[in-house]
Amino acid sequence: MLKLRNALQHRLTEALARVVAPSDGPVDFPLTPATRPEFGDFQANGAMGLAKVLGRPPRRIAQAVVDHLQVEDLCHPPQVAGPGFINFTVRPEVLAAEVQARLDQPRLGVPMAQPRQRVAVDFSSPNIAKEMHVGHLRSTIIGDCIARLLSFRGHQVLRLNHLGDWGTQFGMLIAHLKHVAPRSLSGEEHVDLGDLVAFYRQAKGRFDEDEGFREQSRGEVVELQAGEPESLRAWGLLCRQSRQAFQAVYDRLDVQLVERGESFYNQALPGVVEDLEQAGLLVVDDGARCVFLEGMTGKDGQPLPLIVQKRDGGYNYATTDLAAIRQRLASPDGGGEGAHRVVYVTDAGQSNHFAAVFQVAQRAGWVPTGCHLQHVPFGLVQGTDGKKLKTRSGATVRLRDLLDEAVERARLDLVERMAQEQRQAEEGFVEQVAETVGIAAVKYADLSQNRTTNYQFSFDRMLSLQGNTAPYLLYAYVRIQGIARQGGSLGAEEKPVALWLQAPQELSLARQLLNFDEVILEVEQDLLPNRLCAYLFGLSQTFNRFYDQLPVLKAPDRSRPTRLALCRLSAQTMGLG
Ligand code: ARG
Repeated sequence: MLKLRNALQHRLTEALARVVAPSDGPVDFPLTPATRPEFGDFQANGAMGLAKVLGRPPRRIAQAVVDHLQVEDLCHPPQVAGPGFINFTVRPEVLAAEVQARLDQPRLGVPMAQPRQRVAVDFSSPNIAKEMHVGHLRSTIIGDCIARLLSFRGHQVLRLNHLGDWGTQFGMLIAHLKHVAPRSLSGEEHVDLGDLVAFYRQAKGRFDEDEGFREQSRGEVVELQAGEPESLRAWGLLCRQSRQAFQAVYDRLDVQLVERGESFYNQALPGVVEDLEQAGLLVVDDGARCVFLEGMTGKDGQPLPLIVQKRDGGYNYATTDLAAIRQRLASPDGGGEGAHRVVYVTDAGQSNHFAAVFQVAQRAGWVPTGCHLQHVPFGLVQGTDGKKLKTRSGATVRLRDLLDEAVERARLDLVERMAQEQRQAEEGFVEQVAETVGIAAVKYADLSQNRTTNYQFSFDRMLSLQGNTAPYLLYAYVRIQGIARQGGSLGAEEKPVALWLQAPQELSLARQLLNFDEVILEVEQDLLPNRLCAYLFGLSQTFNRFYDQLPVLKAPDRSRPTRLALCRLSAQTMGLG
């Protein structure tokens, strides 16, 4: 409805110019989607604000605006309601023409963003030699959704995987492997991520207990940071093993990422500290180099420091993030990415970290005007008991197992229902459907929740055919494909006729379909995928009502092309959504 809204807003501005004199100052009279269907399609509430400026009752102002409005080609006569709202109801033939114009269009009415920006989305970002956990899964799913949406809007999106692939843990791991599995470091012996995780745990145990081992580990870190070839090779091997395991998950989820791990910024770290020094932000506190944060205080009310270089000369997670910001925002001639916007998708627990590094980057002058940094936080993943998600034995849930279980449950359910209906399927059908439904269920369950809240992971709920779930949406979608199979191409090949919207079910489906563009723009603004999900769920419900209550293939001649076209646009909208 964006195009219609813009057209009406334009007419509204024209009418307003006749009611308000330029000397009354600038007026704001926005047209917004109606809050309830009874109010029509749009409403304008500006009269209330103007009442004070003009010293006239709001209803009188609204009426004066309506008297000057020329919208009969688009709307029924606008109504003044309540304290001074103006309600607009679009004419059915205008809606029908909009539906017709949108059919079979690849963008379904969604305009390309103006201006188009370069946006870096930093998401997923698991750590080498550790299992990817459910938090990384959330980041992967939400980040991918945001990246897809922004690309669709025409932005140039960089999908960055800020892998935790550097730091003191590697010293520890290499030192330990030299003792227990030296052949794994030369590549003669294969270790998988599971082995690495176990080695990591052992190494950590030794590190905490054994001073000699700590000493060795530090030595290994120094060699690694100095670029000693053998250490680098061992490190590269460790990364490769983990990377394979991560890639398997990405492939399964159909998620693309560019690896840009912490090690990428290693060379830049001394320069970051130097820059901060130059900018006059650096303070040496008890041997550590840090920046004191403005407006962020600790328990004692004193400003908190952001430590960028530890007393022993080592750098922190934050230092790497500062280097990353500087590189992402720097212009391409200077070796940067030239991003206008950087979006970080991590758990809400890292909010303070990002607030701190964004502030320091700002004060260091690395954020050009018009560019912005944005943390997109999400809540914890919990089990159905409301506690942190764990396996029955209390271990962290491995992502691979979790996806396998979703697919297996989807498969069992399908097999059971097929047996009930005594249906036979072609080779591979069950596997394909189970994989589609299982993976979709996991993704959709995550996306359909407001990301800022904690979310309870429940296989039963996400795989249910009822409610706001992937199976429900997929069902509505395949239902339309079923109509297409019986009724040809849903009218696509028939001679185009003017559509005719008459039944209330047709009108509400058309309105809902036309809202797709507004929803996409909203999600681009607030980066809340659940809004898109809520829209798609509502659309599926409206479609199901339409299809249950009105004949389509057996509709009277006058209605058939319209109903087929509504089916077609419903499938296209759900598919794109
Ligand atoms: N590796 C981090 C973790 O597992 C997430 C990194 C997020 N991105 C960033 N630029 N800090 O928590």
